[in-house]
Amino acid sequence: MKVLITGGCGYIGSHTAVRLLESGEEVVIIDNLINSKIDVLDKIKEITGKNITFYQEDLCNLEELRKIFKKEKFDAVIHFAGLKAVGESVEIPLRYYQNNLVSTMNILSCMQEFNVLKLVFSSSATVYGSPKSLPILEDFPLSTTNPYGTTKLMIEQILTDVYKANNKLDITILRYFNPIGAHKSGLLGEDPNGIPNNLMPYIVKVATKQLPVLNIFGSDYDTIDGTGVRDYIHVMDLAEGHILALKNKKKGLKIYNLGTGKGTSVLELVNMFSKINNVKVNYKIVDRRPGDIASCYASSLKANKELGFTCKYTLEDMCKDSYNFVKKNSNL
Ligand code: NAD
Ligand code: UD1
Repeated sequence: MKVLITGGCGYIGSHTAVRLLESGEEVVIIDNLINSKIDVLDKIKEITGKNITFYQEDLCNLEELRKIFKKEKFDAVIHFAGLKAVGESVEIPLRYYQNNLVSTMNILSCMQEFNVLKLVFSSSATVYGSPKSLPILEDFPLSTTNPYGTTKLMIEQILTDVYKANNKLDITILRYFNPIGAHKSGLLGEDPNGIPNNLMPYIVKVATKQLPVLNIFGSDYDTIDGTGVRDYIHVMDLAEGHILALKNKKKGLKIYNLGTGKGTSVLELVNMFSKINNVKVNYKIVDRRPGDIASCYASSLKANKELGFTCKYTLEDMCKDSYNFVKKNSNL
């Protein structure tokens, strides 16, 4: 199968490219490198020993995208590309709507023109807003609190409408919970620019003394220890979910949560990280971060039943691999 991976130089896309190449598929990446680096391609090659065709292109450029589709004749598309910083999306919403929606619509129109039927789309647990109960099931009500989340919700709606108009399409929407961890080699991982917004990249920067202290946002939530609870999933397990989605025999429009089904609090994660890596993580408790919810974790029963999805990696692995990647890749 020849698979187009949009955003394949990014965090989740690069790990998925590795798994796809390892399972014998042909991979083509389109990425404009707005949030990633070109040397990721060499690292994917180093891990897999296989070549990738790469186009440095903005998916918002329909004419260039058409040329690529015409030339490559894809069997399937995994659409990761998008802007993903929640805070930034509140400050510059138009940029988010423009990038995330136009790129997706361009992909869909090229798929239509060149008769590509299979699509896997990266959605997010953010579409559940503040869930009414836990664990979160796929049929829970949807809502969002920021423009980033709204782009995901709007794209899910677009995919639903496009599928209604052409039910030969085979579309899988994957709602990721909180991906962390890195490839075992330490060659690929999450490498955000500037000061991280998300918890694990922040913990790692504190552990490696690139930042002085982790601010824990609130200790008065109704959770095991008062800190926020999330469903952290190893990025390699997440990558595997995409392989299973591509191979799924069930056709149509399908939606799956990809999480472990297990909630972990901020303090539990920090303590696990310190213990497994034998490193101190300075932290202090500060006010809640506006817009945060107390707890969020998935029911992954549907993905397990229909895709055979299970998580192989533990929280220990996630902590170890995240640290290993940053130690190997920062000049400390
Ligand atoms: P990432 O930023 O590391 O990767 C996205 C890639 O897309 C980057 O390499 C970027 O350069 C590229 N890109 C963005 N806009 C583009 C455009 N117009 N044309 C071409 N390339 C473009 O992000 P990630 O963490 O790998 O996330 C992948 C997808 O999963 C995103 O859609 C994100 O919203 C979604 N998601 C991520 C998380 C998470 O915590 N990482 C959680 C839920 C959902
Ligand atoms: C974030 C995004 C969400 C996205 C999800 C998965 C925000 C507001 N939301 O959610 O849209 O789908 O990632 O990528 O960014 N925390 C701290 N200190 C920190 C950072 C985080 O205490 O410096 C806490 C948070 O309060 C939360 C937990 O750690 O309880 C996880 O935070 P984060 O990694 O930002 O993920 P989410 O809030 O789940």
